[in-house]
Amino acid sequence: MSSTSGTFEVSNLGALFIFGLLWIVAIGIFPLLVLVLSSPDHNPKGCRRLGRPSGQSNLSDEYDPKYNKGVPSDHKEDNGLPSWRVKALFTYPLKSCGGIELQKSDVVGTGLEFDRQFAFAEETADGWNCRTLRNAGFQRMALIHTEIWVPDPSSPEYDDRRPEMQSGGVMIISYPRVAPSGPLGVLIRIAMMIRLLKSRRSFQVPLVPSKDSKYPAVPVRIWKDRPLAYNYSSLLPPSLHAYLGLDPSSSPLGLFRAHPSHNREIFRNAPRKEQIGFQPNTAFADAYPIHLLNIASHRDVALRCADVIPRLSIRRFRANIIVQGPEAFAEDHWKRMEIGETEIYAACRTVRCRLPNVDPDTGERDKAEPDRTLKEYRRIDEGDRTNACLGLQLVPAVEKCCIAVGDEVRVLETGEHRYIKMLAPGEKVEGV
Ligand SMILES: *[C@@H]1O[C@H](CO)[C@@H](O)[C@H](O)[C@H]1NC(C)=O
Ligand SMILES: *[C@@H]1O[C@H](CO)[C@@H](O)[C@H](O)[C@H]1NC(C)=O
Repeated sequence: MSSTSGTFEVSNLGALFIFGLLWIVAIGIFPLLVLVLSSPDHNPKGCRRLGRPSGQSNLSDEYDPKYNKGVPSDHKEDNGLPSWRVKALFTYPLKSCGGIELQKSDVVGTGLEFDRQFAFAEETADGWNCRTLRNAGFQRMALIHTEIWVPDPSSPEYDDRRPEMQSGGVMIISYPRVAPSGPLGVLIRIAMMIRLLKSRRSFQVPLVPSKDSKYPAVPVRIWKDRPLAYNYSSLLPPSLHAYLGLDPSSSPLGLFRAHPSHNREIFRNAPRKEQIGFQPNTAFADAYPIHLLNIASHRDVALRCADVIPRLSIRRFRANIIVQGPEAFAEDHWKRMEIGETEIYAACRTVRCRLPNVDPDTGERDKAEPDRTLKEYRRIDEGDRTNACLGLQLVPAVEKCCIAVGDEVRVLETGEHRYIKMLAPGEKVEGV
């Protein structure tokens, strides 16, 4: 009996000793670790950040039941704003990654300024191929966020010679820090928990390559097209590969910036040059320049799958323009409209893929919803009977304009839509 308790005391003492030693090591290593791993917090010099201050979203009340139904377009609002209006605006500079919420936006030929100008691609036997949240294993892209910083002549640090000015601003890409396994990982996790270490890492890329920079333009496949894009792959830090679960030494992941003179012209359902004076085009958007959603339509879908996903955010559907006012699915028949001062064509309805099954806040993919619910009742387009529709694909009738939150939405023309599918290379459809 006594010998057992003796051993017990000895091992107790030993544990205490090791514990103490660990503490000393930890206390010594901690500041060193933080020093090595934390990047100093400095914003791009001479620039201002685009978009709403964080924590201020025009979607903060998106689950309010008042959005479940529409209001007449001539309804008098207490705040004096038009009852059919733009509720929120988003641009998604890096395809499939987190968006930036805006108060107003310039709209250029390819859509909202900066929208889908950058994309990740994977190198395969036939070259670089665009990768999105849809691709297996890439749902972690949902937690990659971007910030756009544009030159600000009113900043005291503004100076034409700075690289940030030469590149027309910068995009900051951030992603969750991955703690390695083992004791170091434990320390890193503790440091993040007590906020000694930032939980996200980041790097920056030029918004536009400056004239003397060395980013060759190479073809990147997106659907059937292979537009030229600047190869920014050398700027990817190894920790980003690690975050995406790829081996940095052999990872075929690349980052590309659309080349402004090699945008993809789009036809299919888009209005033609003869009609609006220019052929609509996009950078890395799937099909058309702008994507619009009506919040009442989204609420209708969200309520139908509320038992599986109680709070289905409209942000899952990655629209550029979210409107409020019209009743659910009124937009199904819009052909032409005016948003603020800008005339806009509805090219077709948005045919949905399974991408909205990924939760933008957690990066987790639901096995079924909301795709299942959508397919149950939203396969409404004659041109594609297999896929569900939600929202509209838009083409502005002018090459440059501006849209702001609160702008009135006026429907000028309604009619039928018939979706024209994306063709495989070489495939032809009569009359298209
Ligand atoms: C793109 O850049 C990466 C990294 O610098 C390089 O390894 C790759 O060969 C480049 N690809 C092309 C097609 O230029
Ligand atoms: C959008 O949100 C901002 C504050 O975050 C608010 O000042 C503004 O009135 C909102 N706009 C509309 C049209 O709801």
